[in-house]
Amino acid sequence: MVSKLIISIKKLFNVYNTTNNYMKSISEALMWRYATKQFDTTKKVSDEAINEILEAGRLSPSSYGLQPWKFILIENPELRTKLREAAYNQSQLTDASHIVVVAHRTTMDESYIDTYMQSIADTRGMDVKDLEGFKNAILGSIAGKGEADIKAWNARQSYLPLGIMLETAALLEVDACPMEGFDSSKFDEILELSGTEYASVAILSLGYRSTEDATANYPKSRFPAEEVIIRK
Ligand SMILES: Cc1cc2nc3c(=O)[nH]c(=O)nc-3n(C[C@H](O)[C@H](O)[C@H](O)COP(=O)(O)O)c2cc1C
Repeated sequence: MVSKLIISIKKLFNVYNTTNNYMKSISEALMWRYATKQFDTTKKVSDEAINEILEAGRLSPSSYGLQPWKFILIENPELRTKLREAAYNQSQLTDASHIVVVAHRTTMDESYIDTYMQSIADTRGMDVKDLEGFKNAILGSIAGKGEADIKAWNARQSYLPLGIMLETAALLEVDACPMEGFDSSKFDEILELSGTEYASVAILSLGYRSTEDATANYPKSRFPAEEVIIRK
């Protein structure tokens, strides 16, 4: 009886301790990360870490679970030189270990929703007919939206995996720079997205900071929590 009690107390303490450490390591990782300006061109991120980061993006939530995105992983140096020219010559494009271009769907139609319904049915061992109500709810919600609204909606969704990939990179101690400073129509041409149902929306460059990147030492600048977080 006494030994059981001791084990339970120990377990409780471990849970508390693990949770506490974990929470600390998240905020530490978020303080450690910064939008890396200069990458060390000699350092490569492991396939394991890259796959973990991409998987975190794939597991991102989205409105109705529609996942209106693709993540394009680019290592090819020639392709990256071309992309750099279309990104105001930002060095991260060629100097980071890997580049991920996040693209969003430009449309949302019944055939895409059908594909999505089928994937749920397959995963959960259901009859797709049982998802008819869900499908109609999605169709109903997009019926009133114009082309531009759908595009903007899909683009907004795509920032969720971007954020999750950024945080995952930080937890893995992989440096990253989220980037919007590029000409998306030029990117779409280079990446052969033009004329497809996808368009580039953001870049995530991944690698390791150069020791010469002075911005790595800038103190993190954020508005105070009391101003940002409203409690009612
Ligand atoms: C959507 C988005 C687009 C960004 N675009 C660029 C970019 O094109 N080039 C760049 O060097 N930094 C870019 N940044 C980085 C921000 O400037 C940076 O995150 C911000 O100043 C806060 O600094 P910190 O991330 O170092 O804490 C972008 C960040 C976000 C979230």
